[in-house]
Amino acid sequence: MTKLMVIHGPNLHLLGQRQTQIYGTLSLDDINFALQQKAKHYGYELLTKQSNSEAEIIDYITANYNDVDFLIFNPAAFTHTSIAIYDTLLATELQFIEVHLSSPAKREQFRHQSYFSKIALGTICGLGANSYILA
Ligand code: DQA
Repeated sequence: MTKLMVIHGPNLHLLGQRQTQIYGTLSLDDINFALQQKAKHYGYELLTKQSNSEAEIIDYITANYNDVDFLIFNPAAFTHTSIAIYDTLLATELQFIEVHLSSPAKREQFRHQSYFSKIALGTICGLGANSYILA
């Protein structure tokens, strides 16, 4: 069975309460539920993980990459800072789509750079929770 992994980066556990004008009113549980439904529809197994820790995300990817076919990844603030996670994805050669609820290009300058866009299969952003669903 095809196995997918979804990783949500820092502060995404606050979805539904956090800057709802930017990130929407759905909680992380709502988004994970919708993703599980979609995965079930296609007959995929789906692992979901949220972490505020760069080290934990690296450990989670390295512990699971041999066992999964694809990653859907919202690196959140690590998008703009994490050479360490970038190196993990290069090392594991895990195929992934980078996802953002908001459109970082329309926001502050420091959000315009992504370490992941160059190595992701593609990037889907600006569509709220639908960015994840489309990925
Ligand atoms: C985000 C965009 C990032 O710039 C930000 O740090 C986040 C969320 C998004 O989903 O829109 O935490 O990845």
